Amino acid sequence: MDTVIGKITQSDNDKIFEQAAGIIRDGGLVAFPTETVYGLGANALDSDAASKIYSAKGRPSDNPLIIHIADIKALDELTTGVDARAAALIESFWPGPMTLVFNKSDIVPYGVTGGLDTVAIRMPNHPVALRLIRESGCYIAAPSANTSGRPSPTRASHVIEDLSGRIDMIIEDDTVNVGIESTIIDVSGEDIYVLRPGCITLEMIRACVGNARLDPAITGQADSDARPKAPGMKYRHYAPKAQLTIVEGSSDKVAEYINQQIARLNEQGKKVGVMATDETVALYKDCMVTSLGSRRDEAGIASHLYECLRNFDGTQTDYIFAESFSYDNVGQAIMNRLIKAAGHNVISV
Ligand code: TXA
Ligand code: MG
Repeated sequence: MDTVIGKITQSDNDKIFEQAAGIIRDGGLVAFPTETVYGLGANALDSDAASKIYSAKGRPSDNPLIIHIADIKALDELTTGVDARAAALIESFWPGPMTLVFNKSDIVPYGVTGGLDTVAIRMPNHPVALRLIRESGCYIAAPSANTSGRPSPTRASHVIEDLSGRIDMIIEDDTVNVGIESTIIDVSGEDIYVLRPGCITLEMIRACVGNARLDPAITGQADSDARPKAPGMKYRHYAPKAQLTIVEGSSDKVAEYINQQIARLNEQGKKVGVMATDETVALYKDCMVTSLGSRRDEAGIASHLYECLRNFDGTQTDYIFAESFSYDNVGQAIMNRLIKAAGHNVISV
């Protein structure tokens, strides 16, 4: 199929929204920007439309989708109820990079929830996403608009790379600024769990609702049998083509170790890439080095992470070394994505 690309401009975008909303209503697929990453949208209450998402992405069918809404009234239709804790989170963080998992109502198809009795819902904070939801008159189920196993897309060019020819339309508007996917919080049971860390941090959630815990299966400390509560968290995501190693330790020691590895690998004719920071980028020699940004701005680092991983895929790099970050605040989300991309390959020096 030909994929239509509609580029948002300063002037009149009515035709783009008219076409995209029509595609959603007719059961087709439209990729659109949100503040976190691009989403691949379909009418959430149409099982056949939602199933097209799975085939376009090559996504396992047990991995449920997030439903995007533009008005909290939607929760009356999609869930069995919103308690005081969920209401407090909504008040603080919607629209925004937070997804809440509720008990689902009967109208939500199991084809969207991967067979679960719960449903993940988010109100994005992006004018294009909100306008598309409103104009289509639908709730929009949307995973990240990458093929399964690739880094989530933060630019239209990434979506084109992965999905061109497989979906009906891409709305291009490169104002995706968070750069990593939303924080997922399960409010469906007695205890509140963070199922996927993101820019709305555990610290922020606790400040809002008191007790909340990180799903032990995703901290990396739990025994390997623990099953993540978000089915998608068990898959090896974001895998770059080159072998990725995270190196933890003081910046001097990390740079010394990585430089030794570069020298050793270069001797074997291998090309090495390094994901560094503004503070350390000058320390690395004889490699392709990229800075993710300043360590003082972890949100900035998060916003560049996926693009940096994708850019390495376009080079002949055989090995990538990444510096590590804190396990608190936004660092927790960065490390969660990096550790998965590295297949848990972390070295302490
Ligand atoms: O920022 C985001 O959340 C982006 C944008 C497009 O909104 N979307 C996104 O979707 O990252 P996706 O499909 O790549 O990730 C959805 C995650 C998966 O890990 C899935 O398992 C989990 O949400 N999930 C969805 N429904 C769930 C449910 N009912 N219970 C637990 N986890 C659920
Ligand atoms: Mg995804």
